[in-house]
Amino acid sequence: EARTPDRLRSSIVCIMGHVDTGKTKLLDNIRRTNVQEGEAGGITQQIGASFFPAETLRERMGSLVEKKNITVKVPGLMIIDTPGHESFSNLRSRGSSLCDLAIVVVDIMHGLEPQTIESLTMLRSKKTPFVIALNKVDRLYGWSTVKDRPFIESLEVQPEGTRSEFESRASQVLLQLAEQGLNAELYYKNKDFKEYVSLIPTSAITGEGVPDILMMLVLLSQKMLVDRVMWCPEVQCTVLEVKVIEGLGTTADVILANGTLKRGDQIVMCGFSGPVVTRVRELLTPRPLREMRVKTDYLHHESIDGAMGIKICANNLEGVVAGSACLVPYKDVPYDLEVLKEDVMSDLSQLAKAASEVNGGVGVYAIASTLGSLEALLEFLKTSKIPVSAVNIGPIHKKDVMKASIMHQFKSEYATILAFDVNLTKEGADMAKELNVRIFTAEIIYHLFDQFTAYMADVRK
Ligand code: GTP
Ligand code: MG
Ligand code: NA
Repeated sequence: EARTPDRLRSSIVCIMGHVDTGKTKLLDNIRRTNVQEGEAGGITQQIGASFFPAETLRERMGSLVEKKNITVKVPGLMIIDTPGHESFSNLRSRGSSLCDLAIVVVDIMHGLEPQTIESLTMLRSKKTPFVIALNKVDRLYGWSTVKDRPFIESLEVQPEGTRSEFESRASQVLLQLAEQGLNAELYYKNKDFKEYVSLIPTSAITGEGVPDILMMLVLLSQKMLVDRVMWCPEVQCTVLEVKVIEGLGTTADVILANGTLKRGDQIVMCGFSGPVVTRVRELLTPRPLREMRVKTDYLHHESIDGAMGIKICANNLEGVVAGSACLVPYKDVPYDLEVLKEDVMSDLSQLAKAASEVNGGVGVYAIASTLGSLEALLEFLKTSKIPVSAVNIGPIHKKDVMKASIMHQFKSEYATILAFDVNLTKEGADMAKELNVRIFTAEIIYHLFDQFTAYMADVRK
């Protein structure tokens, strides 16, 4: 089964941006669902995943399919929703590491906001291609709506004043993007999709611009990303979340990017305390156009091809690290389970090694909730010039505190744990008191820097 441009997998698209710009609402509009109004406080606090089949994409592109002569070659789009609230940069980081392509949503009435800029930085550092949805165009003064219309047609019929407000707000955003060092252009004026990021005006309420954004996602997937989205049999799978579901026990939500996963397959994952080897008991998915995080009646499968968001039921999932790879021994070739176990733990051990090598093993102890957030934390500490001696993935246990306390022998200030998005266990807290180890915890990564620098300034007085 060789890779061929005749068989593409669904591309994985991550939707990111500042809080309340309309990310979830945009997906609701395409799905014709109402997930957003069911969210506590109208705020997304988890990663969501839903599958948009090719026929839905064709239907929602409407008149653009014929006008632009579009053939949908991808089986669909697997779209990952992320929270925009500043506390969840770890989830944005995890979502953006998984995707082939991203949408950054900007509120046309607000322009660029802090988490817009954070999202742009994440995507650019990972070299992930993206488009920008300029959302809430229906809020422009005097906007006249025809539901689900392609944006260009909508713009043509707007009153003069509305059109000029649109032009001026769009140029304002283009200017702000230029200040971030980003070349962008309204998508219908864009002549070079490799050099210029496309701005696609949308409304998640009226559906205007939705045909345009789906068209862009489909075309970018099929034209610019063919190499990446050619289907291949080798399993490429990442754990998103591990959670207990009533009636199912501990489950792992995974994104299967490539290959096929079957019931009964042996799987190998990175665990907090060593590799986890288990077997797939059940393979579940929500129905197409339904959200993984919304409780539904799941569909049961014998086997699933990527790309797809899947809920796996299996034994021993409790200690699995979110963000880690999920490896499947390839049955056609003899394999060595020990090698896979080492492989699956290697991201964690490499992070640990890289972090401690730089400073001759003298520095703070860094701990975070997932592989992705640990990576983000280490990157942040590096740019903040805070040296790191050792790392782990949380919660904070006694043994973390004991390791951190070793720094009392070298440089006492570094007998400190910087913890991002993890809990402190009772025995961990007790041990910290006993061994005089300071623990700074934060849900927002840069608060750690503030706490630690304030503390260092205090020490040096
Ligand atoms: P977080 O996930 O919490 O970051 O927010 P979000 O980006 O998913 O935004 P959400 O979908 O929760 O929408 C926020 C608010 O804006 C809701 O009240 C929506 O109804 C409203 N909204 C979203 N899109 C549009 C739009 O295109 N037009 C108008 N008028 N309102 C919108
Ligand atoms: Mg949301
Ligand atoms: Na919201």
